[in-house]
Amino acid sequence: MKTKNIGFIGGGNMASSLISGLLASGHAAQQIWVSDTDEDKLADLGKNLQVNTTLINDDLISAVDVVVLAVKPQVIAKVIKNSTASFEQANPLIVSIAAGINQSSLSKWLGTDKAVVRCMPNTPALVQTGATGLHANQNVSTAQHDLAENILRSVGITVWVESETELDAVTAVSGSGPAYFFLLMEAMQKSAQALGLTEETAQLLIEQTALGAAKIALESNESPGTLRARVTSPGGTTEQAINTFNQGGFTELVDKALQAANNRSIELAKELGEG
Ligand SMILES: NC(=O)c1ccc[n+]([C@@H]2O[C@H](COP(=O)([O-])OP(=O)(O)OC[C@H]3O[C@@H](n4cnc5c(N)ncnc54)[C@H](OP(=O)(O)O)[C@@H]3O)[C@@H](O)[C@H]2O)c1
Repeated sequence: MKTKNIGFIGGGNMASSLISGLLASGHAAQQIWVSDTDEDKLADLGKNLQVNTTLINDDLISAVDVVVLAVKPQVIAKVIKNSTASFEQANPLIVSIAAGINQSSLSKWLGTDKAVVRCMPNTPALVQTGATGLHANQNVSTAQHDLAENILRSVGITVWVESETELDAVTAVSGSGPAYFFLLMEAMQKSAQALGLTEETAQLLIEQTALGAAKIALESNESPGTLRARVTSPGGTTEQAINTFNQGGFTELVDKALQAANNRSIELAKELGEG
């Protein structure tokens, strides 16, 4: 893996995080390429991360073994169509991290013979704590499979899905998931202040509690239900709060929310794939 040349088309937030992760895991900067339309962004990336930069996507495609498409979903079709000859000639592995762009759209624009891994990362990748779902098409070799996994693993955990439709569920769970936790934190913050805590104290307590709960869940083999029951003493304060959540239909509401996100992911793929 460390001998492969990796290129990023689009040098924005996700590309910068992935490059930082790759460098931290020992990948050589000389083997990383970035292209972008913004000259200043490229100059910063070249200066700060010592990677190769170019304004010309075709030059990057011909120099690398894997091209990570790290532009906004709305410009993916244009980026691919402008470089079809280069993709055809160099035939790199293509890794798309664009939300809502499915394998059939990518094949339509790239050709059905190309090796494509479609990924759904999430925003904690920006702090190297991401969760990414990946799906490979039938043209991806074992070595390319490992290469794609190593790239995304540099910013967090990875899970492969067999069927591409599972990526809609991944989107609803981990893709949109950080916002659900932020919503809970936001609501807790409001209540904590109403209960008399200062904004600063409330925020610190809530953030550390979220981190602690996630850490316990990650480090334990128990289910979330068991972990919750363990901290819910009969007649205690937690039980009062949990009962209140349950009476308000918390579980059903979460189910409805995830279904809505899943359905929107399916709709978005149709809208974005038309180009
Ligand atoms: N951020 C996340 O946490 C996250 C999570 C999951 C998935 N993703 C996916 O990751 C992708 C990148 O997201 P991001 O947040 O990194 O976006 P971003 O910060 O906007 O980066 C995209 C970069 O691509 C550049 N660009 C635009 N057109 C280009 C072209 N024709 N050739 C080369 N570069 C071009 C943009 O330049 P301009 O700004 O000048 O247009 C920008 O610098 C998106 O498809 C998104 O769906 C992101």
